[in-house]
Amino acid sequence: MAEPIRVALAGATGRTGREVGRAIVAAPDMVLVAALARSHAGEHLGALWGDEAVDLTVVDTVGEAATQYPTVMVDFTEPDSAYPRLLDAVDRGWSIVVGTTGFSREQRSELARRTAAHGVAAALIANFSVGAWLSERLAEEAARFFPDVEVLEAHHATKRDRPSGTALRMASLLAAATRRDPDAIPVHSMRLPGLVAHQTVVFGAAGQVLTIRHDVHDRSAYAAGVLAAIRRLPSLGGRFVENLGDLMPTAKEPAP
Ligand SMILES: NC(=O)c1ccc[n+]([C@@H]2O[C@H](COP(=O)([O-])OP(=O)(O)OC[C@H]3O[C@@H](n4cnc5c(N)ncnc54)[C@H](OP(=O)(O)O)[C@@H]3O)[C@@H](O)[C@H]2O)c1
Repeated sequence: MAEPIRVALAGATGRTGREVGRAIVAAPDMVLVAALARSHAGEHLGALWGDEAVDLTVVDTVGEAATQYPTVMVDFTEPDSAYPRLLDAVDRGWSIVVGTTGFSREQRSELARRTAAHGVAAALIANFSVGAWLSERLAEEAARFFPDVEVLEAHHATKRDRPSGTALRMASLLAAATRRDPDAIPVHSMRLPGLVAHQTVVFGAAGQVLTIRHDVHDRSAYAAGVLAAIRRLPSLGGRFVENLGDLMPTAKEPAP
């Protein structure tokens, strides 16, 4: 059997990082070797997760994580700290799987340039849930027939970016499918307690409305896409992937 993939996880103490981290720990072909965070640095990850079997101390620098020889860095934190952390990881030759949203166009370009220069793979995916990716595929098809479309996104009250990266990506796909500028696709945002992550794409046409809706009820929804990315990266050396579809198994392989 091949050696397990050694993964460092930034944001391991966060709402999404916990779910992703649990899935990495449960995956037979991966090992979680380092957990990074900010305010919980120095604490026992197992105690924070309520799973004493997870025997890692949370660290707060890439240098400390490097002592455990990861080959992949997964990041679910926030963009200001993630950007230098990811550049540092890439400079060390690690592949990166990035769920953190809110990077500027210039930051994404520099991450792409740096990963190509080092020949490492990067997956920067605005939404790792397979349902969101399927929504995009369905919406692109629907837009060919129903060009009048608006996007509604709704998230928990503490989400920092608005509109969400997922909604901006949907608007850009719809714009390309209808040959318009992305700004021509209206995107509406809500931030409310009680919500997790919800997106509705509404197509209006004479006498009918078509709605494509995706709801994330808990953050375990992102884990399968993240594991698929970690597994796919070794075959993507030097590539910078922003489309979850590029990481999904082919029709001949089992779905995640
Ligand atoms: N792509 C996707 O599919 C997807 C899905 C869900 C969320 N997200 C994105 O993932 C990110 C995290 O979301 P969340 O809801 O899980 O947030 P969260 O619960 O607030 O967790 C944030 C995590 O980041 C850590 N952190 C914050 N500032 C840091 C810093 N300066 N240095 C190191 N670590 C730092 C926190 O550590 P402490 O706990 O120690 O402070 C915590 O572990 C957001 O950008 C969100 O938009 C993406």
